[in-house]
Amino acid sequence: MSQKTYNILKDAKSRALIDDETYQKWYKQSIKDPEKFWGKHGKRIDWFKPYTKVKNTSFTGKVAIKWFEDGLTNVSYNCIDRHLDKRGDQVAIIWEGDNPYDDKKITYRELYDQVCRLANVMKSNGVKKGDRVTIYMPMIPEAAYAMLACTRIGAIHSIVFGGFSPDALAGRIVDCESTFVITADEGLRGGKKVPLKHNTDLAIEIAQRNDVTVKNVLVVQRTAGKVEWFADRDIWYHEAVAAAKPDCKPAKMKAEDPLFILYTSGSTGKPKGVLHTTGGYLVYASMTHEYVFDYHEGDIYWCTADVGWVTGHSYIVYGPLANGATTLMFEGVPNYPSPSRFWDVVDKHQVNIFYTAPTAIRALMGAGDDHVTKTSRKSLRTLGSVGEPINPEAWEWYYNVVGGKKCPIVDTWWQTETGGILITPLPGATKLKPGSATRPFFGVQPQLVDNDGDVLAGTTEGNLCITDSWPGQMRTVYGDHERFIQTYFSTYKGKYFTGDGCRRDEDGYYWITGRVDDVINVSGHRMGTAEVESALVSHDAVSEAAVVGYPHDVKGQGIYCYITLMEGQEGDDTLRKALVAHVRHEIGPIASPDKIQFSPGLPKTRSGKIMRRILRKIAEDEFSALGDTSTLADPGVVDDLIANRQNKK
Ligand code: PRX
Repeated sequence: MSQKTYNILKDAKSRALIDDETYQKWYKQSIKDPEKFWGKHGKRIDWFKPYTKVKNTSFTGKVAIKWFEDGLTNVSYNCIDRHLDKRGDQVAIIWEGDNPYDDKKITYRELYDQVCRLANVMKSNGVKKGDRVTIYMPMIPEAAYAMLACTRIGAIHSIVFGGFSPDALAGRIVDCESTFVITADEGLRGGKKVPLKHNTDLAIEIAQRNDVTVKNVLVVQRTAGKVEWFADRDIWYHEAVAAAKPDCKPAKMKAEDPLFILYTSGSTGKPKGVLHTTGGYLVYASMTHEYVFDYHEGDIYWCTADVGWVTGHSYIVYGPLANGATTLMFEGVPNYPSPSRFWDVVDKHQVNIFYTAPTAIRALMGAGDDHVTKTSRKSLRTLGSVGEPINPEAWEWYYNVVGGKKCPIVDTWWQTETGGILITPLPGATKLKPGSATRPFFGVQPQLVDNDGDVLAGTTEGNLCITDSWPGQMRTVYGDHERFIQTYFSTYKGKYFTGDGCRRDEDGYYWITGRVDDVINVSGHRMGTAEVESALVSHDAVSEAAVVGYPHDVKGQGIYCYITLMEGQEGDDTLRKALVAHVRHEIGPIASPDKIQFSPGLPKTRSGKIMRRILRKIAEDEFSALGDTSTLADPGVVDDLIANRQNKK
């Protein structure tokens, strides 16, 4: 563990919005009197009707979380309309295509026009306040228009990452009974086409078999590739938008009206529909965007995430646009056409703030320094990291080579559920330690507890909980409030349990150690091992499957699958390939198994519970430290697993 401390740069300090003294002062105020603190900061967004109540939250009993509950506002109004007077001609979105010669700039006024037209298209096709709209899109400006158009009329969007399969898309359409889908003919990433419309067609068929009828599919023409067309259902986006009126009044939304659903994986069952609401979410997303990245008016800001993940929601679209920023949206991948791409784009658009994931940093680090050093990167001022723990080597490389020792790195810890960043350095306030997310943001009260729920004080390591609400917190699991209570508030009564392990050091800094549940983090993508297992057992040859994560140099964690086959099946490379293809088909390429081990049996307790601890150790090739195996029903199974392990170092 690196113990090196980086004193933030004089430069950053002198221009930063928040210095350490201010951080300490505001943090204390935010904890001592959250009503007053958030009552003040809630005003950073515009309200049609101001709130008089600020915080009404309970983590016990039925768990009810309400912020600014009697206020009325609208997210698209805050992200667009309110900027028009001052910065109508300022660029809102810089779009950088997959192909480096393809780019586009959209001003706030153009954004207004596009979003209003699209909102009118949706309205005229019967989409109403509270309806669920599924968005399955590539990284093109129309994805942001679609999100904002939903918020304009009060429809709830559910974005499904373009890398998910038709099955996964169908599951998400069915769960929230979505009747309107926005997609594109094809996506384009790294020069490869992704058949989004075709996948949507297949998903809609599956949804239909599950009694959910999608009435319309709005299709953006991205590649002009050939697609099947269902005339009574499908609508070309460009035709409909061209014919629509260019003004649409923003709906007056209650602060607690749903804003979006985003599905995310947990340790059990199907992905959960994380529900975020309007007022508190926007206040929190915009405030963290400003202070965490030390955003100043006129900055060019780039977050490399996909809008299919929460990072794209909060820090490509809602946070930056609420702040009137210029946000860059990138369609491609970090290594296409070359591993210089990120830095070429930084130079091309003079990016000041750059936010990416450790997996990308590690991959680019592996490609060599030359790809970085041949670019200027002079415009860069703040660097950010998100999605998984950043190992100190990658941190140092990011700091030294990419940032040229000039840019503070904000290692931001948060989750789909938290809506925005909870633990993070602030560029002008926090001394940095490579690998540590450092200190809580305003209003955030982390607590470490042991497995019995006893609170751990001082320098320690335990399970990370948050003891009180913040405005960006999720409000429920869509359609299943009981699951919300069970998942997040029952392990440690009265506290929000994050599912992460964490260490606190002598300076009170937090170091996230990774998930303590059966969730793995592959290239910054969160995945439930149970989901991969259920995909595997749906293959005819598989009798039983257990999936664990193991350390992977680039991906952070890789997917290791133990499989027991049906009688008479042969566990060979052909079957391995077939199983990989099967999982990709069921969930999507992001869930591709890295290692598959066939085994006649799995280590189980006498009551039949799979001992994952042992499977994790073998997958890590750390089998000398297996611990107590005496409770196993058949200890002999372990020898076979070790002998046939797939990850020998
Ligand atoms: O384990 C933590 C890890 O990602 C999980 C949340 O994943 P997701 O909901 O997909 O959201 C990712 C983007 C916000 C967390 O429970 N994680 C996220 N950021 C960090 C992190 N782990 C360590 N350091 C981080 N900065």
